[in-house]
Amino acid sequence: MMERTTIMHPLLDTLKTRFPQAVLGVHEDAERHELSIRVAADRVVEVATFLHDDPGMAFDHMTDSPHRGKGSKNIQFILGETTMASHISEVGVGSYKMAHIHGDGTHIIQLGDEGYSLYWRAGDTEYRRVDWKFGMLHSPGNDEWHQHFNVSDRPGRYLPISYGGYRFPFTNAQRRNIKHDYRVKSEIQIEYADEDPRIRQLFDEEREKYRARKSAGSVAAR
Ligand SMILES: [Fe+2]
Repeated sequence: MMERTTIMHPLLDTLKTRFPQAVLGVHEDAERHELSIRVAADRVVEVATFLHDDPGMAFDHMTDSPHRGKGSKNIQFILGETTMASHISEVGVGSYKMAHIHGDGTHIIQLGDEGYSLYWRAGDTEYRRVDWKFGMLHSPGNDEWHQHFNVSDRPGRYLPISYGGYRFPFTNAQRRNIKHDYRVKSEIQIEYADEDPRIRQLFDEEREKYRARKSAGSVAAR
């Protein structure tokens, strides 16, 4: 049943006209400047596809986040208004994110499969390397430095899932990261200009290896 509301919004009007049975309710959070539209579970894919494909909607769900790295994109989402938080992060073509730290409990499901991540603790002289495989899980510990590298010629994505986050932060570390502004140099991210030169050197080597594999025809087409 449609919830009684006086909320006016062009997007809401379009969806109610296009999917009169699917739009179940709407909620506006003035403090967060958020409009939430509740959609029947069995119509979610249909509605989301319309939002993405229709020229009048053209939802580009990934938002540029250049302050995390060259070609970096991101989208945050909340699963059914639960305490589980997740986002999809994209590493630009032939590029890498800047290293950063945050609290533990983030489980990264790897989607991009031509790249690697480096992990280390403050004071370590060597890096722990995790080579990407589609569907693998890797997870940074509390304040463990980590950095994601996409050696391929297509965007490399990963899906981090954690308990608590932007909507329901439970730890001081989560609150710290919510307030953090990546545009400002800080103690929780290493800018490209400040990184260990071995980082770029290794990436350049791995990028060359990828190009050689591609030339030899041994890179998967997908
Ligand atoms: Fe991270």
